[in-house]
Amino acid sequence: MCGIVGYIGDQEAAGILVEGLRRLEYRGYDSAGIAVLNGGDIQLRRSVGKLPALIDLLKEKPVHGTLGVGHTRWATHGSPCEENAHPHLCCKENIAVVHNGIIENYVELRKELSEQGHRFKSQTDTEVLAHLIESFYTGDLAAAVRQALGRAQGSYGLAVVSAEDRERFIAARKDSPLVLGLGERGTYLASDVPALLPYTREIIYLQDGEIAELRRDAVQLWDAHGQPITRNSEIISWDAAMAEKAGFPHFMLKEIHEQRATIANTFKSRVSLEPPAVHLEDSLPVKIAQAVPRVCLVGCGTSYHAGLAARHWFEELAHIPCDVEIASEYRYRRFSKDRNTLVVGISQSGETADTLAALRESKAQRFPVLAVCNVLGSTITRDADHTLYTYCGPEIGVASTKAFTGQLTALFLLALYMGQSRGTIGRSQLYRHLKALSHVPAAIHHFLESDHGIEAIAQDIQGASSALYLGRQINFPLALEGALKLKEIAYIHAEGYPAGEMKHGPIALIEKGMPVIALAVNSRVQEKMRSNIEEVKARGGKVIALTTEGGLDTVRKADHVITLPFLNEEVSPLLSVVPLQLLAYYTAVAKGCDVDQPRNLAKSVTVE
Ligand code: G6P
Repeated sequence: MCGIVGYIGDQEAAGILVEGLRRLEYRGYDSAGIAVLNGGDIQLRRSVGKLPALIDLLKEKPVHGTLGVGHTRWATHGSPCEENAHPHLCCKENIAVVHNGIIENYVELRKELSEQGHRFKSQTDTEVLAHLIESFYTGDLAAAVRQALGRAQGSYGLAVVSAEDRERFIAARKDSPLVLGLGERGTYLASDVPALLPYTREIIYLQDGEIAELRRDAVQLWDAHGQPITRNSEIISWDAAMAEKAGFPHFMLKEIHEQRATIANTFKSRVSLEPPAVHLEDSLPVKIAQAVPRVCLVGCGTSYHAGLAARHWFEELAHIPCDVEIASEYRYRRFSKDRNTLVVGISQSGETADTLAALRESKAQRFPVLAVCNVLGSTITRDADHTLYTYCGPEIGVASTKAFTGQLTALFLLALYMGQSRGTIGRSQLYRHLKALSHVPAAIHHFLESDHGIEAIAQDIQGASSALYLGRQINFPLALEGALKLKEIAYIHAEGYPAGEMKHGPIALIEKGMPVIALAVNSRVQEKMRSNIEEVKARGGKVIALTTEGGLDTVRKADHVITLPFLNEEVSPLLSVVPLQLLAYYTAVAKGCDVDQPRNLAKSVTVE
């Protein structure tokens, strides 16, 4: 949610800032802007809409200088217009600020600063920071930022430049991620690692409450109490190519195709077949896996859907009662959990504000907390007691795909590991499940290599105003996920429903030609989907059925059938979601939608 970049070095800053913003655009794309220092002046360029508008502006009105900051915005306070675009300047226009987060007390600060004579030009909460810093500035930028932040409530990842100081710029964070990059040609700042990858893999994560001063060849960090601290840099294993499209027209399609590898990456170093075993001791001590009376899975969006699917595994394989909660609801609910309930926060980014808050609340109540996360070193992994990583590499498409199957894989392993630790799962059963898991990457590969007519189905449904996704048991969360994908990127209203509930409401919506996506893949309840399909057909609906080799009879009445290779029921969701992702993708493409940057959404939601 909003992307920040910064650079100080011996190269022209503008190109580096724009390239960084391009790699962060998934965080917001309502407007973009940069501020570059030239002599004693701050040159500001801002434009509404996606990055190409800013690039055009820079062609027309270039800026020069080797120190600058940039921002790509997801609007919270104030509409997406040029005045509200970042960077924001103070009255004298010699301090520029870019900010991700929300300054909650901005109304009172703005009033106070206005009374002191400060003139505001935007409706944003961020602009108060520029004026506050100006009011404290006496030549030491870090000190002025510290004093200003002492007055600000809320969350921030921010970068500040002063026209009077060409040797440094300042960054600070509270509840919004920031990463420093140490390169040969300078020092970099970004909200997320992909923006740094073309320049360096040597990074330092800024932590909550910390302030950093970035110079050409050094950084200085202070902790929340203003004490200087040193922190060793880390070398990350992701490389720049991982954050490129690699010949695919969209990141989303590339990431769908990557799933054959990312699922394998997530399980391969953690399982053995002879004898069958799951090795997650590094992520969760056996003692905890044995002792917890209950598991509570918490997440938002797609991550929440991964939790809903995984519940079946915890109950079936580990015989552990399992609750699944939407993080934004969980954090305000007063429900009683058994003592020692294992709270599992699921988050691709590791920065989602609601999931973070839910985990912090759980930790405060002394529940053991495990993070299932894709981004190394992200806030959730630092806050949690334990972390189970998914190894999916950077996910750039706003609509999550490979992170979802990575989460499913990690949660499946966790359920097996808990079953193994508690003795609820026998050797042969464990072997069977691990063997089935080992077949998933090849099954996805096989499926993606052949044509299943999904593009043609997408053409057929692209004019629909509404769609219904039906599934039972573990396929119900997949129905939710399929519907979410269609909503997110193709802007078609869609609902996921437990198939058995259809006759208690949604059936009233079915009319001629309405697409109904029926998940009738192999499972013990596969046959029950037959009557749902009949009921939809009887009312003129258009059925798109997903089934498994050998299941064609069940879906005989469907208008379109997508057939999947056979996989064991337990692991089949890892494959079944792929056609749902593709259907949403091709429908969005058919409608001419911007697949990787759908309207109003952001990949990383760092505000409540
Ligand atoms: C946003 C994204 C979704 C994602 C959700 C949770 O809404 O658009 O794709 O599922 O946040 O994100 P997380 O990083 O916590 O998994």
